Amino acid sequence: MSLLPWVSEVAIDVGTANVHVAVKDGGVVVREPALVAYRVSNDTPVAFGTEAKQMLEQGVTEVYVVQPLQAGVVADMNAAAVMLRHYLQKALGRRPLFSPTVLTAYPTAATQVSRRALVQALRAAGAGRVIALQKSLATATGAGLAVDAATTAMVIDIGAGTTDAAALSMGMISDGISVPLGGASLDEALVRGIKRQQGIRLSHHAAEEIKLHVGSVDPSLASSPPAGAANMGSFSDKADDIKAFGVQLDEVPDIIHDACMPIAEELSWLIEQLPAKVRSHLGTTGAVMTGGTSQLRGLSSLLGNRTGVPMAVATDPMSCTMLGLQAILNNLHALSLDGRRVSFAALTRS
Ligand SMILES: Nc1ncnc2c1ncn2[C@@H]1O[C@H](COP(=O)(O)OP(=O)(O)OP(=O)(O)O)[C@@H](O)[C@H]1O
Ligand SMILES: [Mg+2]
Repeated sequence: MSLLPWVSEVAIDVGTANVHVAVKDGGVVVREPALVAYRVSNDTPVAFGTEAKQMLEQGVTEVYVVQPLQAGVVADMNAAAVMLRHYLQKALGRRPLFSPTVLTAYPTAATQVSRRALVQALRAAGAGRVIALQKSLATATGAGLAVDAATTAMVIDIGAGTTDAAALSMGMISDGISVPLGGASLDEALVRGIKRQQGIRLSHHAAEEIKLHVGSVDPSLASSPPAGAANMGSFSDKADDIKAFGVQLDEVPDIIHDACMPIAEELSWLIEQLPAKVRSHLGTTGAVMTGGTSQLRGLSSLLGNRTGVPMAVATDPMSCTMLGLQAILNNLHALSLDGRRVSFAALTRS
């Protein structure tokens, strides 16, 4: 029960590609693409999320589709506010949007400007009190890591717009990075690589479809449907769509592999900064990977080999940030006043 029973409490993971919303004691109630479709003729928003994505896929010409976040941060304030208002309203259903208390997360190494932008977008969307945490605290909690232990745990979230990685111990972040690399940068590399090698100009959306279809950084792993293909609609339909692009798929894993190397370098850099004792501990215990891109086959071994820290992909990797925020929301009293330190003893993942 919240302190003020008429104020709803909501947790929201505002990702570059996907938004998840959970209501206190009500579970995750929204999982939608972070997209807004506007009518070309009068610039008014006409659709959000899955519906906006369908319009993009169908090439509906009366609308243009905006992704309000880029690289994990608010890039279009108006579109972000409009989208977040829609999702908050959807999450609260018939409960009035009476300035809910909102718990959210910003990239671990975000600048103050981008942190403020996220809070401002949520306020403009109708939020009352906004509590914003560093993302890796939430993600590690959602991945089931013992972040309050005296030893160090590491979480590496590779989403669409950012790679957000941190070493955590005793409920705090000892070192972390947020770099603008993730699924979208792999799609971008495919657009460029396929144009250079095969002269075919792909949209980012088509490049993402190809990445999901091939789903690998390693040519020897690239022949079967990717993990989660069953949820992507009919796999053979996708295969037919992809054939229609006329792209030689054999070259795709190499392009994706090369585009993953800057991510490996950033992670190596982070790990090299850690004290030798912590590094050797992580070399034994390993790190946990989350985010949609962590599901790319071969990526965990590639990153493990490059960094010397073995990598395991979390269960339900795309939900970890949300599940962590939800667990923290259900135990908000455990947050200290500066909003950073969390006592994880009381937290359970529900
Ligand atoms: N099986 C898969 N293989 C490879 N990539 C995948 C797979 N499934 C999803 N992705 C990619 O994961 C990304 C979406 O992941 P996620 O929802 O974690 O991102 P996000 O939280 O919205 O972004 P961010 O946290 O970076 O702001 C997309 O780029 C998508 O193409
Ligand atoms: Mg994310």
